[in-house]
Amino acid sequence: GKKKRKKEKKKTGVMYIGALGARVICDNIPGLVNKQRQLCQRHPDIMQAIGEGTKEWIRECQHQFRHHRWNCSTLDRDHTVFGRVLLRSSREAAFVYAISSAGVVYALTRACSQGELKLCNCDPLRRGRANDGKGDFDWGGCSDNVNYGIKFAKTFIDAKERPIRDGRALMNLHNNRCGRTAVKRFMNMECKCHGVSGSCTLRTCWMALSDFRKTGDYLRRKYNGAVEVIMNQDGTGFTVANKAFRKATKNDLVYFENSPDYCLQDKAAGSLGTAGRVCNKTSRGTDGCEVMCCGRGYDTTRVMQITKCECKFKWCCAVECKDCEEAVDIHTCKAPKRAEWLDKT
Ligand SMILES: *[C@@H]1O[C@H](CO)[C@@H](O)[C@H](O)[C@H]1NC(C)=O
Ligand SMILES: *[C@@H]1O[C@H](CO)[C@@H](O)[C@H](O)[C@H]1NC(C)=O
Repeated sequence: GKKKRKKEKKKTGVMYIGALGARVICDNIPGLVNKQRQLCQRHPDIMQAIGEGTKEWIRECQHQFRHHRWNCSTLDRDHTVFGRVLLRSSREAAFVYAISSAGVVYALTRACSQGELKLCNCDPLRRGRANDGKGDFDWGGCSDNVNYGIKFAKTFIDAKERPIRDGRALMNLHNNRCGRTAVKRFMNMECKCHGVSGSCTLRTCWMALSDFRKTGDYLRRKYNGAVEVIMNQDGTGFTVANKAFRKATKNDLVYFENSPDYCLQDKAAGSLGTAGRVCNKTSRGTDGCEVMCCGRGYDTTRVMQITKCECKFKWCCAVECKDCEEAVDIHTCKAPKRAEWLDKT
C-alpha cells in the first residue's frame, strides 16, 4: 500500500498543480475517456487552461441563446467537462460541439501566449521579415499560436469519438472542426509603428486572437444555417437530407435529428422546458411571452427595483444620483397544466 503509493508519487512528481496531484485531478474529472485521462495526467497545466476555457464558452453559449427556449443551461448541471452528453444529434448539439471546441482552442492559445504552459509559447513561425502588400514589416512581440491550440484541441476533444465511426461520431468530428477553424478565422494582425514621429517607416506586427464574442457570433450564424444530413449508404460520410438544398460545405454545421420544441421538460432530449423563464410581453421574437411560453400563458409579478435617478453633474467632476424605487413587472412562463396535475398525484 504505502510503499507503492510513494513510488507513484515520485513518478508523477513534476505534474503537481498546487497541492493536488495530477492523477487526483484527472481521475476526478467526470466524463473523460481513457486517452483524455492520459493527456490530462501528462499535461495538467493544459487541463487547467481547458477548465477555464469551459466556463468561458458556456457563458458565450448562454449569451447567444439568452432569448431562446433552449438557453444552453443544460450544460451547467451536467458536470462532465464538456457537458454535452444530454443533447441528441440536433442542431443545438452541433452548436455546442463547435463552440466547445472553439473554446478549447481559444483558451489554449491564450495560455500559450501568457507563458502558462510548458509545451507551447508564442508562434515560433512569426519571425523575421515579411511583407503584407502595404510593405515590409518585422514580426515582433508575441503572435498567438493558434495552430498549436488547434492541434491540441483536436487531439484532446476528438479522442472522445469512437474510432469505429458511426454517424454521430462523424457529425461530432465535423462540427468540432468547424469550431476549431472558426477561432483562426478571427485572428488579426496588429502592428505598431516606429520611425520619425510615427511615420511608420518601420513596423512591428504580430497575430492576435480577437474577442471570443466574434467566434460566438459567427458560430451562431452557422447554427442558423446548419444543414440537416443523412448517412451515406456506405456509412463513410453524410449527404444533405433534402436534395433541394445546397450541399453542406466543410464550414457548415451539420445535424441528423430535428430539435424538440424545448417547451416541456425532457431530460433525455436535453430540454429543461420553459416554465419559470422570464419573457418579454411586448416582443414578437423568440423572447416574447407568446413564443417563450409556448402558448401556456405567463404570470406577472411586480417587483421594486432600485435605479439611479435625478442625476446631477457636480462641479468638478462627479455625477451624483439619488436611488429611486421603481415598480417593474416581470413576466414568467407558466408551467404546463398536465405536469402540475401529475406532480400533485
Ligand atoms: C435557462 O432556462 C432554465 C429553465 O428553462 C432556467 O432555469 C435558467 O435560469 C435559464 N438560464 C439563463 C441563463 O437564463
Ligand atoms: C422587450 O421587447 C421590446 C420589443 O422588442 C424591446 O424594445 C424591449 O427593450 C424589451 N424589453 C426588455 C426588458 O428586454
